[in-house]
Amino acid sequence: MSVIGAPLPRVDGKLKVTGRAKYSAEVAISKVAYAVLVPSTIASGRVLSMDSHQAEKLPGVLAIMTPATGPRVPKPESRLSLLQNNRVHYQNQPIGVVIAEDLNTAWHAASLLRIRYETAPARLDLKSGFPAAYPGHHNEDPGDASWGNVEAGLAQADVKIDQLYTTPIQHHSPMEPHAVIAQWEGSHLTVYASTQNITGHQKSLSAAFGIPASNVRVLCEFAGGGFGCKGQMWSHVVLAAMAAKKVNRPVKLVLERPQMFGPVGARPQTYQRIALGAKKDGKLTAIRHHVYTNTSFLEDYLESSAVPTRRMYACRNVSTQHRLVQLNLGTPTYMRAPGVATGTYALEVAMDELAYALDMDPLQLRLLNYTDVDPENGKAFTEKILRQCYARGAERFGWSRRRGEPGSMRAGSLLVGWGMATETYPAKRLPAGAVVRFQPDGRVVVASGTHELGTGTYTIMTQVAADALGIPPQMIAVEIGDTHFPEAPISAGSMTAASVMPAVQSAALKARLELFKLAIDDEDSPVYRLRADEVDLQDGKIFRKASPGRAESYTDLLARNSGRPIEAVARIEPVEQEQFSSHSFGAVFAEVTVDRELGIVRVPRVVAVYDVGKLLNEKTAKSQFIGGIVWGISLALHENTYVDPETGRIANANLAEYHVPVNADIGDIDVSAIDASDLKVDSLGARGIGEIGITGTGAAVANAIYHATGKRVRDLPITPDKLLIDGE
Ligand code: MOS
Repeated sequence: MSVIGAPLPRVDGKLKVTGRAKYSAEVAISKVAYAVLVPSTIASGRVLSMDSHQAEKLPGVLAIMTPATGPRVPKPESRLSLLQNNRVHYQNQPIGVVIAEDLNTAWHAASLLRIRYETAPARLDLKSGFPAAYPGHHNEDPGDASWGNVEAGLAQADVKIDQLYTTPIQHHSPMEPHAVIAQWEGSHLTVYASTQNITGHQKSLSAAFGIPASNVRVLCEFAGGGFGCKGQMWSHVVLAAMAAKKVNRPVKLVLERPQMFGPVGARPQTYQRIALGAKKDGKLTAIRHHVYTNTSFLEDYLESSAVPTRRMYACRNVSTQHRLVQLNLGTPTYMRAPGVATGTYALEVAMDELAYALDMDPLQLRLLNYTDVDPENGKAFTEKILRQCYARGAERFGWSRRRGEPGSMRAGSLLVGWGMATETYPAKRLPAGAVVRFQPDGRVVVASGTHELGTGTYTIMTQVAADALGIPPQMIAVEIGDTHFPEAPISAGSMTAASVMPAVQSAALKARLELFKLAIDDEDSPVYRLRADEVDLQDGKIFRKASPGRAESYTDLLARNSGRPIEAVARIEPVEQEQFSSHSFGAVFAEVTVDRELGIVRVPRVVAVYDVGKLLNEKTAKSQFIGGIVWGISLALHENTYVDPETGRIANANLAEYHVPVNADIGDIDVSAIDASDLKVDSLGARGIGEIGITGTGAAVANAIYHATGKRVRDLPITPDKLLIDGE
């Protein structure tokens, strides 16, 4: 059986549970000084003065950087807050840095700063910004895309729905906060940062300080979760490097939990208007999905909620549009399934509403509007087997036993509801490199400048290399998270598997061939003078395919040949697939119970089936799906960043009041994938799985709540108060 796909336990599991895995703030650096950020306490205006007199007198304080005294940065990106000016654009914006011998002194000194502000009016309400809204775009995707004629399509419709759906600001809240250690040696900068993008950090730091990228080394062996907020480089990384230069010592800077709410991204608020039209038979005649969402006054970020609507259903008349509103909040950023999580919530609830308006089963409505081609451009999908996901999901869930009437299903005194939705996420890839090295000590080192966010990168790299090399997984040592290794892309957009693993596979096959060449030239080798295609490697032994009895371990071969390692590097560029559209899909079914007196919703079970190409590790893949589904339940029921409308302060900037589900909130989650390889995407047939689980799930839960109660809540999260109003 192939090692690829096998449910190999995480190769880094033991390191993590025994505390030996080193996270950025834990790297032992001698003489490290401690820095803390000073956050703004106004949402808009200027810092007039920052009196550091008292703070500086504390023993152990090394330096204080303020907007007036912050060292000048040669090329500061205007999106970052680097103390180059005194403007304040949001609450919690870094406006100073205190550096001290120890952390407590730094905190104490920061509390002694006397800061005077001039405040300016802040815009904190999305709707109030509509008149000033402007079009936004999402990477290469245009923000607006339409085909056909939506007005005509709606006019032809027998049944229409037109509703507003809203989703709140959310914060990523990884367990490990952002953390950085910065160290200068002359004009060389070394940075240990918790990040999804070491190369991006290297480039950004090189640009900020005007030094060659080769002078900047960025390392991250493990990140304790990222979910998108560790994709871009944020201000604190540059501030730590500025501080290290200023005090001429390595500096460590770890964000406090409340500082995770503001300066390091968030999922923005969305206000999504969806109109659907259909003929009596259920065939869609029009889809209109128009979105307002917030960005900051510092830079544009677009939550592209209407983009997934362009892929989902066969429809000739479609209009999708995004408008941005600048608010006095930190710049939003990618958060797990950016755009898609919020967009599929709205679209898939709208589809449920249409199903009720048509008096049709919600699954039946989706099957009626199934599309085998990308509706926007008519391109075939590289592969699409969503029909099987619907069928298997319905079967595993028992969907055929559903009674359609809202409020018709009970479990004792509780209302029971069943809802479903379609899931989707684009399959993306970027160029990536890897190196594979046979070492004389018997280990095979596999390295790439990629990342481990808890997703399983170490483990699937081990499996792909083991498979290509004919070496047991235990002999493989994976090294990642260092810009000295071959470059790999940002670990985001569910791209790591499809980008990095083909490079690992290619480097492994090349290294294997190099090893064979060495053996073929060695008269003491059992494969002397054979052709490479007559030679094989299994369990670390080289032999002639025709006579496997005479085999030699590669370490003996290396020892006889000067003891030098054999290595090969590969860099794989994605093949442009102009004629295809490449997306993953899935079907998710949720059961809820609702206590009608208390408005309490429980989610006892979720069933989801995925069309994601090949799974590289069944166990870590399922873990990704389950994690995504937990986030989807969280989107539906829990998460909500409260911005105080007067001050712009985030009122629940902590893990006690920013609600995420705990174990008791999560019931049985049954996930599986249709076994298939999408070889048009990459040589392993894997499309990436990190984000699709959150998509659709919020809608499935919301739809189940409607089915249970007959009450349609269109503003997330669906908290008990929203189910109790109207005297019900
Ligand atoms: Mo993901 S939100 O693209 O890190």
